[in-house]
Amino acid sequence: MVKSVTVRAPCSTANLGPGFDVFGMALDALYDNVVLTKKGKGIVIVSSDNIPLNPSKNTAGLVASAMKKKFKIKDGIEIKIKKNIPAGYGMGSSAASAAACAVGINKLYNLKLTDEELVGFAGIGEKASAGIIHYDNVAASALGGFVIVKTTPLKVVKIQPPNDLVLCVAVPELMVPEKKTKVSRGVIPKKVSLSDMIKNISNASGIVAGFSERNSELIGRSVQDVIVEPARKHMIPGFDKVKKNALTAGAYGVTISGAGPSVIAFTDKKHDSKKISNAMKRGFKDAKKESNVFVCKPSKGPIIKKGK
Ligand code: HSE
Repeated sequence: MVKSVTVRAPCSTANLGPGFDVFGMALDALYDNVVLTKKGKGIVIVSSDNIPLNPSKNTAGLVASAMKKKFKIKDGIEIKIKKNIPAGYGMGSSAASAAACAVGINKLYNLKLTDEELVGFAGIGEKASAGIIHYDNVAASALGGFVIVKTTPLKVVKIQPPNDLVLCVAVPELMVPEKKTKVSRGVIPKKVSLSDMIKNISNASGIVAGFSERNSELIGRSVQDVIVEPARKHMIPGFDKVKKNALTAGAYGVTISGAGPSVIAFTDKKHDSKKISNAMKRGFKDAKKESNVFVCKPSKGPIIKKGK
C-alpha cells in the first residue's frame, strides 16, 4: 500500500492577455515540491517557508480538507511543502501547491478523478489567496500544457503547445501587497464596451487557433488585451517600457503574467530570447527596478513519484 507520494507541480501563467480567468499555461521554469504522507490524525502542514501552517489558511490544506471530507478519508495527512515559486508575482505559486495536493491525494488514494474533478478540488485552494475561486492557474499546474477553463459546469480543454514556443517571464523585484491577487482584481472594470469585448474575443480566438494549429507566431501576436492589462498596468512600474522593449527585441506579444507584477513575452525558437530578456530587464531598470527573467518552454505538468 502506498503511504506517501511526492508531487512537483509547475508554475503557470494565467490569462495570456485576453483570456482572463479562462486561459492558463504551465511553465517549465519553477516547481513547488509537495510530499503527502498518510500519517497521524487530521491535516498537518510542514514547511520551513513563509506560508500559513494552519490548514484552513493554506492553499494545499484547503484542498486536502475538501478531499478528505468528500471521499471520507479517515487517515491523517501530512503535507510537506517546499515552495520554489515566489508567491505573489503572477506565476501561479498558490495554485501550484494546491494542484500538487489534489494530484497527490488522487494518487495516494487511487481516486481516478477526471481532469474536471481534479481542477475543481485544486481551485478550492485559490480561495485562500485570491478571495474567490478561479481555475486558470490550477488547471495549468495540475494538467500541464495550455488550458481553457469553461465554468458552470466546469470543463477543462487541454491543448499541447507547439514545440517551438518560448516564453520570457520577467519577475521584478517589488514589494507586493498581501492578498495581491485580490487587490489586483479590485482594479478591473466591472463593465466593458462592446468594441473592447470584440477585440478581446478576436484575440482570444487567435490564441486558441494558434495552439490548435501549433503556430507560435499566431499565439504570440494574439496576446493582446484591451480590458484587463490597461486597468492593471499602473501596478507594475515600467510596464510600458518593458513591453515596448520586448516587442522591439522581437517578441510576438507581451502582457502581464496572471495578476502580475511579472511580465511575460511570447516568442519562438527562431528569435533571440536572450535579447528579449535583456530588453525586458532594461525596461524595469529604467523604472529603477531590478528583475529576474526566466526563459522557458511550456511544462508538461506535474511529476509524481510514489514513496513507500
Ligand atoms: N486570472 C487571475 C487574475 C489569475 O488575473 O486575477 C491570478 O493569478
